[in-house]
Parts: sequence; C-alpha cells; structure tokens
Amino acid sequence: MPKYLVTGAAGFIGRSIASALLERGDSVRGVDNLSTGKRQNLIGLEKMDFLEGDLADPSVCAKACEGVEIIFHEAALPSVPRSVADPRSTNVACVDATLNLLIAARAAGVRRVMYAASSAAYGETPTLPKHEGMLPAPITPYAVAKLACEHYLACFTRVYGLETVSLRYFNVFGPYQDPTSQYSGVLAKFCSKMLAGQQPTIFGDGEQSRDFTYIDNVVAGNLLAAEAPAENVAGKMMNLATGKRITLNQTFEILKGLTGYNGKPAYAETRAGDIKDSLADISRAKAALGYQPSVDFSEGLRRTVEWYKTLA
Ligand code: UD1
Repeated sequence: MPKYLVTGAAGFIGRSIASALLERGDSVRGVDNLSTGKRQNLIGLEKMDFLEGDLADPSVCAKACEGVEIIFHEAALPSVPRSVADPRSTNVACVDATLNLLIAARAAGVRRVMYAASSAAYGETPTLPKHEGMLPAPITPYAVAKLACEHYLACFTRVYGLETVSLRYFNVFGPYQDPTSQYSGVLAKFCSKMLAGQQPTIFGDGEQSRDFTYIDNVVAGNLLAAEAPAENVAGKMMNLATGKRITLNQTFEILKGLTGYNGKPAYAETRAGDIKDSLADISRAKAALGYQPSVDFSEGLRRTVEWYKTLA
C-alpha cells in the first residue's frame, strides 16, 4: 500500500510533489480527473499508482485513501477568473471534493493532510505583507471556496483528530504549469508566448505585484509540513511563498532578456476579481516548518524558461 496520496497528481503542483516523493524512494498513489491535469504530466511518474477519478465522487475518495498515511491535496480548479465565470464548478471541484476527501481520509485512518490553500483568502486588504493573523476577506468564488476548505481542514483536526495543515500558496510557477488555457497562470502564458515570438497581454497597467513562488519552494514546504511535529502544524494554516514581490511590468522586462522577445506587451482592461498587490509574510512557515525559500524569483524564472524551451 502506498504511504502517500497526491491529489491532482497530473497537474502542475501535484506532479511536482509526486515526483519529489518518488525520487526519494517513497511509494505514492496519485489521483486526478484529468480536467485540467494532463496525462502527459505523468511521464516520468511510472512508479506512481495512478487512479483516474473525480474526488467529487465519494467512492473515488474511498479508493484513493485506502492504506494511505499522508495526503497532499492539490486537486482543484485553480483559477480566479474561471470561478467568476462559473462559480458552481469551482465549488464542486474545490469544496465538495475536499469535504469528500476529508471524510474518506478519516474513515481510512489517514494521519495527516496537507492542503493547497490560497493567498486569495486575503482578498484586497491593503496591508502588506499578508500575515496569517489578518481577517480573511475573499472577493471571488475561488477565494471563498479555498477558504471554506481551510475551515473544513481545521474542523477535522479539532473534531476528529485528523492532522491537517493548510498551506496558503502565492502564485506558484515553474515547469509543468500549463500555458495553454485562457485560465493559465500569467508566467506560464508569458513564457510560452514570448518564446514563440507572440505578444503577451497585461491586464491593467502592469503595476500589480505578486509574490511569485518557484515550484521547488512549494514542494519543499509541503515535504517539511508532512514531517513537522503535530503541535506545529495540526489544525493550522500558514503562508508558503518567498516574502518578495515583483510587478508584471518588471517581470515582462526580465522575460524579454530570457526569451529574446523584443516587442512590447499589449495592455487590456483589468480582470474582474483581480487584486492589486500580493506579498507574503513567511515567518510562520519558517518557525513551524523550518521553511526557507531556496530558489529565488530570477533563478526560478530562468529554469522555467529553459523548461518551456524544451516544449517548443
Ligand atoms: C493565482 C493562482 C491561484 C492562486 C493565487 C494565489 C493561477 C492560474 N492562479 O491567482 O490559483 O490561488 O494566485 O495568489 O496560478 N494576467 C495578465 N495577463 C495574462 C494573465 C494574467 O496580465 O495573460 C494578470 C492577472 O490579471 C493578474 C496577474 O497577472 O493581475 C496574475 O494572474 P494569474 O496568474 O491568473 O494569478 P492570480 O489571479 O494572482
């Protein structure tokens, strides 16, 4: 029986966590409904026991949790604008699926669940950096759904004793992030477009900023959270990011150098539900997990562009 379950294992973050676990010799089961995940992301993960199925179906959750000790729950519909266009499917894929998974995890005797929570929970509050003591103020269906799941996780620790930890990600990027959907993350889109000599579009004036976090930092934070003493993590939530931010305009300039693109960006209307600035205080994760981001933004972006070059 596999020790670890990774949900969303055919997606960007899930496959990256699964790969790290397999590389250190651990046994892994992965589950994915292949709605935004891709079968080709499973290449290189052949040792993983892969289950195709939807966590909105409780019987899939029961099968996925069988014999497992630790879960990394990354499956979601990870897009703010998608949730604005279609709140119900975001709720099903995020909230229903997570509740089903927690119920199945408890029934199967799982010990700990790490959850891909989101900085979207902070909403448009002006305070920077965002710290975990701030009151959440979600402004989109996606943010509401992600925050609701945090509460379910904390509740399952308190009421049923399942160890859970919510890791609030801030704009994760890196190899395997899908650039092809209108809902893809901005750096995935920009890297692949600019490498192809196509003009990227910046929504708004480009002065919005993000705490862009390279994938290896997020994988490392998850592995630390799985090993941390229960008193440091169980029932808690914490930011997982770099503690630095950069604007889209600045990012575009760096990408020009890395991709060889020499045009200008197109500017379009600000996107509905967008927040202006995002920056994390990462002191809680440092104290609770011994977390330290090891790959900075520019190195992460360089590695990411190199990876997208291999797709071209
Ligand atoms: C992202 C994540 C979300 C996560 C959140 C945490 C993705 C797809 N979304 O949301 O899952 O919970 O961070 O903070 O990774 N933009 C452009 N041009 C484009 C695409 C986007 O200018 O072609 C802009 C957007 O308007 C926004 C910024 O880039 O201002 C970031 O957008 P996006 O990558 O979609 O991420 P978030 O909405 O911040």
